[in-house]
Amino acid sequence: MRVDILTLFPGIFSGPLDHSILQKAREGGLLTVEVHDLREFAEGRHRVTDEPPFGGGGGMVMKPEPVFAGVEAIRDRFGPGKAVLLSPQGETLGSDLARRLSEEEHLILVCGRYEGVDQRVADHLADLEVSIGDYVLTGGELPALVLVDVVARFLPGVLGDPMASSRDSFEEGLLEAPQYTRPRTFRGHSVPDVLLSGDHAAIEKWRREESLQRTRIRRPDLLNKKLTAAKGVE
Ligand SMILES: C[S@@+](CC[C@H](N)C(=O)[O-])C[C@H]1O[C@@H](n2cnc3c(N)ncnc32)[C@H](O)[C@@H]1O
Repeated sequence: MRVDILTLFPGIFSGPLDHSILQKAREGGLLTVEVHDLREFAEGRHRVTDEPPFGGGGGMVMKPEPVFAGVEAIRDRFGPGKAVLLSPQGETLGSDLARRLSEEEHLILVCGRYEGVDQRVADHLADLEVSIGDYVLTGGELPALVLVDVVARFLPGVLGDPMASSRDSFEEGLLEAPQYTRPRTFRGHSVPDVLLSGDHAAIEKWRREESLQRTRIRRPDLLNKKLTAAKGVE
């Protein structure tokens, strides 16, 4: 998968993409990420990228021209890509949306700043607006990184052990069961006996029950969604 990121602050991206699984995915050619400075697509000696909002109100709004020019230049060079505007008003990013996006060959992520981006970008350029949650961040760079990370986990070959992720939280509409590793006893707290039993069927049963119980207590909304979906299939 190819991901192009348009931002006014390219420096934010150096670091998070250069470690661990994302770095390996990039080195292995499974994921290509290129960060572009939106100012390079701005016209004029001062390369202005933002202006005060029409109609008044505080702050600045990102101008449409550099964003359109940036997305169009990337499409001219690398072919059609799905343009995603990071926005608190977009579709909330969850596992289902991440899986869907992982099936795209090319994503172009547009990071907003200040009071946001001129509405014409959402209306006439972006294919999709994506939010990472019901709160407002200072910019779209952290949401873009979250999106790249979660989407990369769904790309074939990115995770060392695909079995491990099939039990991850949200995979079957449930939270994952608790995990333990060495030592068997830590400060008087022991690992559940069943995990040391070597009985794989018993371990699977325990994990399923823990997963259900955890989801019931912490995220009853997920269980309700699962039940509703199951009823819809009947
Ligand atoms: C300060 S926010 C603008 C918020 C806007 N005034 C509003 O109330 O909807 C600046 C930029 O940060 C990004 N952003 C902030 N919160 C976000 C969220 N929850 N999910 C995705 N992007 C977000 C968007 O790119 C947005 O254009």
